[in-house]
Amino acid sequence: MEKEVLSILDKRTNFPYDIPIEKGAIRASDLRRIKSGPDDFGLMSYDPAFLNTASCQSAITFIDGDKGILRYRGYPIEQLAEKCTFLEVAYLILNGELPTELQLKNFVAAITRHTMLHETTKSFLEGFRHDAHPMGMFISTVAALSTVYPDAKNVHDPEVRKLQIHRLIGKVPTIAAYTYRHSLGYPYIYPDDDFSYTENFMNMLWKMVEPKYRANPVLARALDILFILHADHEQNCSANVMRAVGSSQADPFVCIAAAAAALSGPLHGGANEEVLKMLDEIGSKENVRGYVDKIKAGHGKLMGFGHRIYKNYDPRARIIKWAADQVFVATGRNPKLDIALELEKIALEDEYFIKRKLYPNVDFYSGIIYQALGFKPELFTVLFAIPRTVGWLAQWQEMLQDPEQKIARPRQVYTGYDVREFVPIEQRAVRAASASR
Ligand SMILES: CC(C)(COP(=O)(O)OP(=O)(O)OC[C@H]1O[C@@H](n2cnc3c(N)ncnc32)[C@H](O)[C@@H]1OP(=O)(O)O)[C@@H](O)C(=O)NCCC(=O)NCCS
Repeated sequence: MEKEVLSILDKRTNFPYDIPIEKGAIRASDLRRIKSGPDDFGLMSYDPAFLNTASCQSAITFIDGDKGILRYRGYPIEQLAEKCTFLEVAYLILNGELPTELQLKNFVAAITRHTMLHETTKSFLEGFRHDAHPMGMFISTVAALSTVYPDAKNVHDPEVRKLQIHRLIGKVPTIAAYTYRHSLGYPYIYPDDDFSYTENFMNMLWKMVEPKYRANPVLARALDILFILHADHEQNCSANVMRAVGSSQADPFVCIAAAAAALSGPLHGGANEEVLKMLDEIGSKENVRGYVDKIKAGHGKLMGFGHRIYKNYDPRARIIKWAADQVFVATGRNPKLDIALELEKIALEDEYFIKRKLYPNVDFYSGIIYQALGFKPELFTVLFAIPRTVGWLAQWQEMLQDPEQKIARPRQVYTGYDVREFVPIEQRAVRAASASR
């Protein structure tokens, strides 16, 4: 097959360049050959917020945002959500193939072995104020685990990496549950090996004085499905942070803490909590149209709407809507659902949202179902971080094994002063400082 090439004519010099195209992309470093003269550094591409820059090659997750497609390792998300458990999907994401029965048994056993936290980590959590946000506690506690497992620094040893992956997937539900119990002043509940991953999490959250906690199987399955839907989402903001921090060869505990910090923002994983606040603010179905008009007039954003990649219905939102119906049979209907459905209806028929291709994203319905499951809004982003730990670890591992990857170091287009004379303090006049300088 003939090689694909992009021909560029630099009108500054009238020099032609042939830039190879591979897998639908040109290499940005090939642009460096394009110079206006011998002293020129070479052409760069300027791409604030990475709107059109591939930072890696990845075989983990595929998204077609226009068609609303999401696949992990080639398998459609709808099939995985219907037929698999979360840990089965975690194995797939991390290892590239669905596990055999024996592989899954061993993987589940490995994760289960690592669900306990060191007792000193419990004392660490004790230091937080009673009203500390669970996400802040989660981020700090995951980072603190780096001090408990100094062996994790050896990021180039595959066996060491595997151990940290098991530790992290095993421990994040325990940390999440402890942050919740801490905020209520309840004693922490140790993990219980009798349970599945999600049942064990529910046990650590909600066990009180009963001798054995029993999770409602419908709710445990719904949570498992939510975990599957949130497990990975290719190069999103937090995955990019995971790769960037990991590229300095920092240990995976601090990398996950950094990725979780990125997730905590309201434009990323924090959106599900914001959706609930928004639905509370709207209050009733009758107020929806007025609220939408306010958004269109430039007062804020419709939380849980819009996506950098999906310009169609987020396939995860569709599955969550279906799962919500199952949950409501067991819990009774969350009245916020009616407001959300009305909001979706009005927005999807509105020119403003149609023109900008703004559809409900994963966070639009996840908050409603989380609330019906019994979770407080402050815990929603932590509920996102637990399964996403799997995706972050898979992205991190892939980055470390990629011979093309180096420490992440973007370039800049410098817009500051050219060199200038130093001014002694007594001669300095007050001048309006530009915030950017
Ligand atoms: C997800 C998100 C950050 C993507 O941002 P982005 O790719 O940078 O898109 P932009 O901010 O450039 O948006 C494009 C246009 O749509 C508008 N827009 C985007 N999301 C909107 C929303 N949720 N409500 C109202 N308008 C929105 C923008 O104002 C912009 O309008 P303009 O062209 O008139 O300036 C953005 O859609 C958003 O903030 N959504 C709400 C938060 C959320 O739900 N996040 C969870 C993501 S899973």
